[in-house]
Amino acid sequence: MSALRRVANAIDLYRREGFGALIVALTHRYMPAIPLSARFTWKAATRYEMRFWDDWFKTRGSQWPDDYRRRLDPDLPLQPIAAALLPPQPAVDILDVGAGPLTVLGKKCEGVNIRITAIDPLADAYDRLLEKYHVQPPVRTRMLDAEDLSRGFQADTFDLVHARNSVDHAYNPEEAILQMIRVVKAGCYVLLEHSVNEAEQRDYSGMHQWNFSVSGEGDFLVRSKSREVNMTRKYADLCTISCEVLDGSMLITRILKRRPLETGRGM
Ligand SMILES: C[S@@+](CC[C@H](N)C(=O)[O-])C[C@H]1O[C@@H](n2cnc3c(N)ncnc32)[C@H](O)[C@@H]1O
Repeated sequence: MSALRRVANAIDLYRREGFGALIVALTHRYMPAIPLSARFTWKAATRYEMRFWDDWFKTRGSQWPDDYRRRLDPDLPLQPIAAALLPPQPAVDILDVGAGPLTVLGKKCEGVNIRITAIDPLADAYDRLLEKYHVQPPVRTRMLDAEDLSRGFQADTFDLVHARNSVDHAYNPEEAILQMIRVVKAGCYVLLEHSVNEAEQRDYSGMHQWNFSVSGEGDFLVRSKSREVNMTRKYADLCTISCEVLDGSMLITRILKRRPLETGRGM
């Protein structure tokens, strides 16, 4: 590629996604050994994320029109994979973490009254999109980072905590998952649904900085370019984690919280 073309591309990236995204792209391309902070890289990717959702609303779901309709359906049944983990009681509170502008979770479950709370750090910007496209969400997403869940909720609040395709977008997934364990009740589940090794699949672009996978021994691994945590072993005293890969690429992680947590952050 000619030098002129490279400069044109850089200017284009700066215009579309801002200065932060340009710095991240240049560092990734020319100085990969220089570590950028996870938070900086995350922040730089937010404009890209917003452009995705703007296009999704404008086109009513882009390549996924059925998904668009389902998310707006107040009678959509709760997905079986989530329903199977609910405790047997007449009413349950479910938290969807990194829900995007419209939670993917179904709103109805036979014989159970379900109350869904949805959070996402970009919720304010999503509200502006909902207004722009005149969309009334069945569940309005509240602004909160997964890493900060204990600022928004008491420990042991929810009967199920769910995240799909979002915790591997966080700037600190280990902390995010610990916070999810903190706010779920003891004896209840955190359910994670993420593509296997999403960051590697996406060449560490945008918010894709973390890989979730399962080891040969069945342990749940969280890995970035610079570190790896074996969540199953590290938190064995707190929870039981099981992993399953569906369709060769979707990692389903079920985390059973065995006991309440005494402390706040830094559990
Ligand atoms: C690809 S979207 C998925 C949204 C939704 N869960 C779904 O399945 O359609 C990723 C979402 O993760 C959110 N996210 C990124 N970092 C996060 C964090 N630290 N805490 C919670 N959510 C986060 C993004 O804002 C975005 O809405």
